[in-house]
Amino acid sequence: MIPVKKAVIPVAGLGTRFLPATKAMPKEMLPLIDRPIISYVVLEAIRSGIEDIILITGRGKRAIEDYFDDSPELEMHLRNAGNQRALQTIQEISSLADIHYVRQKEPLGLGDAVLRSEKHVGNEPFAVLLGDDIIIHNTPCTRQLMDVYSHYQSSVIAVETVPSEKISSYGIINGRKIDDTISCLLDIIEKPNPADAPSSIGAIGRYIFTPAIFDSLKQTGRGIGGEIQLTDAIKALCSSEPVYAYSFSGKRYDTGDKIGYLKAIIDFSLRDAEIRDDLLEYLSRISLS
Ligand code: G1P
Repeated sequence: MIPVKKAVIPVAGLGTRFLPATKAMPKEMLPLIDRPIISYVVLEAIRSGIEDIILITGRGKRAIEDYFDDSPELEMHLRNAGNQRALQTIQEISSLADIHYVRQKEPLGLGDAVLRSEKHVGNEPFAVLLGDDIIIHNTPCTRQLMDVYSHYQSSVIAVETVPSEKISSYGIINGRKIDDTISCLLDIIEKPNPADAPSSIGAIGRYIFTPAIFDSLKQTGRGIGGEIQLTDAIKALCSSEPVYAYSFSGKRYDTGDKIGYLKAIIDFSLRDAEIRDDLLEYLSRISLS
């Protein structure tokens, strides 16, 4: 069995939900306290055992490349100022993993973004992590999916039950239950009307694919929103080989959504020993008048 060593992280989205902040900066660089959202996603991949990361970027995403690159001037400044702690943090970021960049020239959708990675991924299974989702658990979500992949040697997508008013924001699945956490995928529909949805179980932004997904993507025409949808390619894939849906363990934050982003900031702050007590004290005194 070829192990999963590569991960594709599409970061070409426009981030319209966070305009005007995202007019001049990538949404993936919005900070959760002192680290950008994208760094948590890259760290999840690394902690899962991924060795090679492919970021699919687009126009206006240069700040992401700079973030993961060396920064000699800043390092020299911190060294001269004797700020060892900050220097170490900065150096750790640029030595995290082997990161490659592939540019999606036109915003043709998530399916097209994943297809751009084909040359780099080659004939191997690979992970896909969407940049908006941050999932907290001792065993990283991608690692959990890799364990399912090792067992079935088939594509597997992470899912969770979504509130009914959010059904039209997700790829919604129909599956045949195998056990409490695993189903065999029978169908998946991108952003259905709640009335037509086969369930309330949605694909969140974590996947492991066999390389057969690339052929499926090449045959996928434009779907909802005029975009090439990854969901449509998964639907086609599950008619030619088994695909599994896995109810992951962990807490997910959808940082692509304003309230999800805010919840992540609050929870991360409450886990941060340096600011936790001050935040709690502030919240206890807060007055809305
Ligand atoms: C994408 C996928 C969708 C999935 C969702 C998870 O949608 O197309 O199937 O359920 O991510 O966050 P997006 O949020 O990019 O519109």
